[in-house]
Amino acid sequence: MRLVSDPGEMRALAGEARGASRRIAFVPTMGFLHEGHVALLREGRGRGDLLVLSIFVNPKQFAPNEDLACYPRDLEGDLDKARAAGVDVAFVPEPSAVYPAGFQTFVEVRDLQQPLCGARRPGHFAGVATVVLKLFHIVRPHLAVFGEKDWQQLQVVRRMVRDLEADVEIVGVPTVREADGLAMSSRNATLSPEDRARAVAIPRGLETAQALFAAGEHAASRLVEAAVRPLHAAGLRVDYLELRDAETLEEVTHADRPVVIAVAAFVGSTRLIDNVVLRPPATAK
Ligand code: PAJ
Repeated sequence: MRLVSDPGEMRALAGEARGASRRIAFVPTMGFLHEGHVALLREGRGRGDLLVLSIFVNPKQFAPNEDLACYPRDLEGDLDKARAAGVDVAFVPEPSAVYPAGFQTFVEVRDLQQPLCGARRPGHFAGVATVVLKLFHIVRPHLAVFGEKDWQQLQVVRRMVRDLEADVEIVGVPTVREADGLAMSSRNATLSPEDRARAVAIPRGLETAQALFAAGEHAASRLVEAAVRPLHAAGLRVDYLELRDAETLEEVTHADRPVVIAVAAFVGSTRLIDNVVLRPPATAK
């Protein structure tokens, strides 16, 4: 595995691979890798000839009051996991290389960045879209793999790629969970044992709504009410819990098309997100 920090060197490597007709699969991350990230790497390994992982804690997607400074990091551990997952190139740039003095260009996915996390984290998705497009220009992938755990992010990236004709296939991978259902997240490492136990209310809520939906309940208000109850019972501070069109993220009152129930909740001072997609039988795949 090659460790690259210089964007120019990364771009040159990508050019060589393309010249040799090798398919480049790319998995962008912010590091502190867990089984969710590894599932993305596995997907990329199976689809590409050159597997590139990026590790970059992107300052532009954190607001000043957020957890940039205490975002967990473990480069050595990450590189071990990357090697084990068959990564060919680990691209780990410095912030000053990604955002040199004078940087001022941003990508905004206007409507999709508004609701849910976008409403609570102003500028977050512009930061995500901008760094993802920039990484695409450096890594020049044929395909890039993203997790469904960050459902809104996945929709933002898909829309950006379509709107700006980025020639990259976007592959989504289902959320990888701990044995008790909690979605894997780098931020889980910051939970106290008590908070880790309480956090399981998040997947319990989503499962409850999923079961209700399977039993025929399609009213958004009822599904939301069922999903939020376990969170309140566990004393979590719910940032949002909403049911929306799975692709456009527009509000819907009835789950008569594929919808997503998306949730963000504070467990102690850690903010966790999760979601479940509900597909009416006629549109199930
Ligand atoms: P990060 O949170 O490190 O996540 C990197 C990728 O791993 C994302 O595509 C995310 O959806 C996926 N992922 C995280 N937890 C997962 C889980 N439990 N199951 C499946 N996939 C999971 O998302 C980011 O970084 C950044 O916003 C980034 C796209 C790298 C841009 O900075």
